[in-house]
Amino acid sequence: MNDQYVIEPALMYLVEFARQAALHSYSPYSHFRVGAALKLTNGEIVTGANVENISYGLTLCAERSAVVRAVAKFGPEIRIEAVAVANLNDGASPPCGACRQVLAEFILPDAPVIFPAAGGLRTMPFSELLPLAFDMKLK
Ligand code: THU
Repeated sequence: MNDQYVIEPALMYLVEFARQAALHSYSPYSHFRVGAALKLTNGEIVTGANVENISYGLTLCAERSAVVRAVAKFGPEIRIEAVAVANLNDGASPPCGACRQVLAEFILPDAPVIFPAAGGLRTMPFSELLPLAFDMKLK
């Protein structure tokens, strides 16, 4: 089986945190209930859920709500070492482009990102999910 479908068993609990977080989704417009769980290098787990808005465009994705919570709770030095995303709709939910760019601020390049995809749960190192994040530094 393709490596991308082999989830490290030690990270399955993170998927369960993401599923639980999705129960708190506020999604009266799309009814797509998403949860995200971040494992931080300080050993903490921080979750988030999507919070929609009647303006639609102001909707906050689960991944970004988790990042904002993590920084607000533990400060700007946090680093993310693994991410799981789940939804309660049996759909796919790879992190959207905006969430990838926001994760890029705090995530370790090799951090696994686990998300539901067509063939089941899929996992990819963050650097493969967003190989060329916006950055002003010339590297
Ligand atoms: N959504 C997320 O929570 N994460 C993503 O990465 C993509 C989409 C939410 C936003 C909206 O509330 C619903 O899923 C449908 O797009």
